[in-house]
Amino acid sequence: MTMKIFLCWFIACIILDLTFGNRQKIDGFENTLGHLKPQHSSESQANAVQQLINRVIGKKSKWFAIIIDRTIGPEGKDTFRISKRHDEKIEIIATSGVTAAWGFHYYLKNYCHCHISWDGNQIKLPSIFPEVHITVTSNDRFRYYQNVCTAGYSSTWWQWEQWERNIDWMALNGINLALAFHGQEAIWERVYLQLNFTREEINEQFGGPAFLPWARMGNIRGWGGPLSPAWHSHTITLQHKILERMRELGIIPVLPAFAGHVPRAFIRVFPSANLSKTEAWNGFEDKYCCPYLLSPSDPLFKIVGGKFLQTYIDEFGTDHVYNCDTFNENEPSKSDLESLKNIGAAVYSAMTSVDPQAIWIMQGWLFVNEFEFWTEPRVEAFVTSVPIGKMIVLDLQSEQFPQYSRLKSYYGQPFIWCMLHNFGGTLGMFGSAEIINKRVIEARKMTGSTMIGTGLTPEGINQNYVIYELMNEMAYRNKSVDLDAWFEYYSVRRYGAWNEYATTAWRILGRTIYDFIGLERIRGHYVITRRPSLKIQPWTWYSPDLMLSAWDNFIKAQYGRMNNTLYKHDLVDITRQSLQLIAEDIYLNIRGAFNKKHLTELRLQCNLLLEIFDDLESILAASENFLLGKWLNDARLLGTNDDERNLYEYNARNQITLWGPDGQIQDYANKQWSGVMSDYFKARWSIFLNALIESITRNEKFNSSIIDKKMFDEVEKPFTFSRKNYSTVPQGDVVKIATALNEKWRRHNVTLISKKFKRIELQSKKILHDELE
Ligand SMILES: *[C@@H]1O[C@H](CO)[C@@H](O)[C@H](O)[C@H]1NC(C)=O
Ligand SMILES: *[C@@H]1O[C@H](CO)[C@@H](O)[C@H](O)[C@H]1NC(C)=O
Ligand SMILES: *[C@@H]1O[C@H](CO)[C@@H](O)[C@H](O)[C@H]1NC(C)=O
Ligand SMILES: *[C@@H]1O[C@H](CO)[C@@H](O)[C@H](O)[C@H]1NC(C)=O
Ligand SMILES: *[C@@H]1O[C@H](CO)[C@@H](O)[C@H](O)[C@H]1NC(C)=O
Ligand SMILES: *[C@@H]1O[C@H](CO)[C@@H](O)[C@H](O)[C@H]1NC(C)=O
Ligand SMILES: *[C@@H]1O[C@H](CO)[C@@H](O)[C@H](O)[C@H]1NC(C)=O
Repeated sequence: MTMKIFLCWFIACIILDLTFGNRQKIDGFENTLGHLKPQHSSESQANAVQQLINRVIGKKSKWFAIIIDRTIGPEGKDTFRISKRHDEKIEIIATSGVTAAWGFHYYLKNYCHCHISWDGNQIKLPSIFPEVHITVTSNDRFRYYQNVCTAGYSSTWWQWEQWERNIDWMALNGINLALAFHGQEAIWERVYLQLNFTREEINEQFGGPAFLPWARMGNIRGWGGPLSPAWHSHTITLQHKILERMRELGIIPVLPAFAGHVPRAFIRVFPSANLSKTEAWNGFEDKYCCPYLLSPSDPLFKIVGGKFLQTYIDEFGTDHVYNCDTFNENEPSKSDLESLKNIGAAVYSAMTSVDPQAIWIMQGWLFVNEFEFWTEPRVEAFVTSVPIGKMIVLDLQSEQFPQYSRLKSYYGQPFIWCMLHNFGGTLGMFGSAEIINKRVIEARKMTGSTMIGTGLTPEGINQNYVIYELMNEMAYRNKSVDLDAWFEYYSVRRYGAWNEYATTAWRILGRTIYDFIGLERIRGHYVITRRPSLKIQPWTWYSPDLMLSAWDNFIKAQYGRMNNTLYKHDLVDITRQSLQLIAEDIYLNIRGAFNKKHLTELRLQCNLLLEIFDDLESILAASENFLLGKWLNDARLLGTNDDERNLYEYNARNQITLWGPDGQIQDYANKQWSGVMSDYFKARWSIFLNALIESITRNEKFNSSIIDKKMFDEVEKPFTFSRKNYSTVPQGDVVKIATALNEKWRRHNVTLISKKFKRIELQSKKILHDELE
């Protein structure tokens, strides 16, 4: 009897559990997120996709027929169905415009072996389109794109043409949820003027164009500014175009909301407001940091936040998703659970007071970066202060520091698995292919998983395209791939030809440099890009010899139909990476010779290092994607008078070097570009190496503080104020230069040994959080 009851109870539990689990799967937050969907008609979306296809393949676009039908797949996911019709047209039926574009790209890739990337396209279409009959359904509701910092590191100077390409690229990769943050300073200006702030008081708050993201998050204020009326009207116009295109395609834009940071003059206008100064960020002095944070408990929070959102929506409309980050790299002043709850609830209610359908999307970076503060109970109090399903958490760096398992799927709030990958838009080949290939799938299947999407959240784009391509495919893939085969096929599509050497090179890269599974924080810093010092510790997570053999193979690939622009782009990148690696080895030799006071050897090695800078300069100058001139020129193009042009150039130069007036986060966003290599990196190493040699010849102690000051005064600071103009067009023959450099430097014996690193145990669910700094 007792046994029977127990059994019944047990079975009932299982049934309940199954029903619940099942319901949750089918539900997939349909009740709370179901309204986040394309607003345009099916015809209008189909039309937008047809035009996109025309931009990608021109006249042949007439061979594609697009039909949007929201009912063809399961609710809450996206589906495309591709088939070849009797009239020879390729028909794509899809649940939205962006899904149709995704299907088109899927067909180009997998049936026509084409390749579309940030670095260029390889589109050689067959004369007859291949037969096809396939249906693909996305794994999740969303594919998300962008980090709030991308607007600072990559798209700062973009005009509509570049944005159009970027939005096309989003659609081609199925991205249906993306940040659209332009114009917020212009709207804030309107709001603050209505509240009787003076223009000076308002300008003090905004950062310059290259520093907007960090001013928006309350990290800095005023640095790089002021913004001009022309800048504001540029961003308003641009934002309208961006939103119109995104909406036509069915991409849901994520708009900015009020995080609480206000100008210092707030206290003049509202003397009784409950304000606290945010803490200094990365050593910025008071003049450029620490805006006030308006307490979310102050009734003014809702009023000011609501006024901003209403004004923004009046100008741009809304799709009901908003992002703001109150505590990005700023700890809350209160740590008790009740306060954290109140803060979360207040931020959210400022949104709902204007838009009752508001969904708050937040970057979970604070849970990684301020790991110590954000204990489990605190995170739970904070994220559950918003009704379940009304907040989406971006698990921001899931490939290295995932938080979703520690934080139990965010205590029921939906989250998106995001690959951050890049910091500061630095160059340097790097990636975690194996982790991406496995973990995305595991996270989705995790018990009680609230994962509703995959995402890309790089601080900067235009590097390491291969890893973004792999990540994008995880949105529809439900099994891991054979990575060797995957890298090989990547090479075939990218260069439009099978080439044994190229595929070998990519297979090696996939198993070395793109197979990072450690907990070290890779931040694009290498000997050549770091500020010179005797204390640098170069290391690699892969075998340098193997990596260099990939370079040899890639050079050999030139003899077989491999002269497309993407091959040349990658030849520059792989050569750059190889020289960067050899430079680390030379550096160790320099240090060894210096310590042994071996002058002849020291001179020899110093000359080698300087030579490598010259060689890097010449290979980078040969490709349009590695030119300082372009970045500076794009910045100047946005100025409407000399003052603006000069200010923008200063912004552009300062961000990639000193990052702040005195090098507050120096070299964080460094760029291995022609122009930077010669006039910044080499110039300061030159000073440093001379000083080393002099200290031995004069038998004097090496004084690094004197040299640091000399480098700052003679190279770093002058570089930011310089107006030297750099070429915007490439010079020299990439293949010839790269081949000569390979011949020259492969004679050099690399003794650098790859370091043992703290491997993440891929099989284990438990991630070693205590390894965090
Ligand atoms: C701004 O100034 C106007 C005119 O002096 C005044 O009517 C209004 O109340 C002020 N608004 C605020 C928010 O102080
Ligand atoms: C000001 O805000 C803080 C935290 O946001 C809160 O603890 C405090 O009670 C508020 N003070 C007043 C006077 O409302
Ligand atoms: C995985 O994907 C394949 C191909 O898209 C599909 O046929 C299969 O049903 C999927 N399996 C599961 C368990 O979703
Ligand atoms: C490839 O090389 C051939 C022969 O050197 C040249 O004629 C052709 O223009 C090149 N194509 C590209 C895309 O560079
Ligand atoms: C280095 O030079 C600075 C400035 O001349 C001096 O103050 C400092 O004491 C020197 N340091 C050493 C270690 O000699
Ligand atoms: C430098 O700038 C001037 C004036 O804008 C321009 O005419 C010239 O072509 C530029 N030189 C280079 C090398 O780009
Ligand atoms: C590099 O190492 C190999 C094998 O140890 C040796 O034979 C060769 O002479 C070395 N080359 C140079 C330039 O030192």
